[in-house]
Amino acid sequence: MTAPQDPYDTDADLAASIAGSSSESPVSTVLKTDERVLARVTDGIYRQPGSAIRELISNSYDADAARVVIKTDRPRFQTLTVEDDGLGMTPRALAHLLHHIGGSAKRSHEGADLGITNSADPTRSPAGRRLIGKIGIGLFSVAQLTHRFQIITKTAADPFRTVASVVLRQYSDNGGPPHDDSAHPPDEQGEGGVSSPV
Ligand SMILES: Nc1ncnc2c1ncn2[C@@H]1O[C@H](COP(=O)(O)OP(=O)(O)OP(=O)(O)O)[C@@H](O)[C@H]1O
Ligand SMILES: [Mg+2]
Repeated sequence: MTAPQDPYDTDADLAASIAGSSSESPVSTVLKTDERVLARVTDGIYRQPGSAIRELISNSYDADAARVVIKTDRPRFQTLTVEDDGLGMTPRALAHLLHHIGGSAKRSHEGADLGITNSADPTRSPAGRRLIGKIGIGLFSVAQLTHRFQIITKTAADPFRTVASVVLRQYSDNGGPPHDDSAHPPDEQGEGGVSSPV
């Protein structure tokens, strides 16, 4: 299953189309989210910092990992790194996770296409574990610990690793300009799952 194409690039395009529509020619569009909604949802669902650790380990389990290593720079506790030896993410799987927050590919046939689920049973991991994930927002529970994190990942078949630096709450709640976080670039933490400067 692929996501329907949204023909409306801007809210203005959509609004103009709605204004010109009729019951015989209704407008169809795709629901999206933005970072402010994401910030509220993650704050609302995950109230304990420990939830983030639970969600990351659950993702490692779903990716058929045998080993998860959690490291921190004790006693400063400024960074937290969660590494696993699971399947990793292809660039396509990573793009899906970034563009479909709240729309998990787990438990769907799309998951098999992305290498996330078992091709015979979409409720199971490629190796046959019963999947924990279902919503598509667990990763963002790290908002409890940090507003910026890195995903560093590589599948066995990909020649290169992929690094995604994610910044949450770039905009203030009153719609003000983005904060300038460029003075604090995230350090690269090496191979692994998710690295979270906190
Ligand atoms: N450690 C990991 N290894 C491989 N893929 C991962 C890992 N962590 C996350 N992913 C990918 O990122 C996607 C999003 O993870 P996230 O936890 O946000 O959602 P989910 O696990 O699909 O559902 P839920 O919100 O119920 O946890 C996963 O579906 C998976 O494809
Ligand atoms: Mg998950």
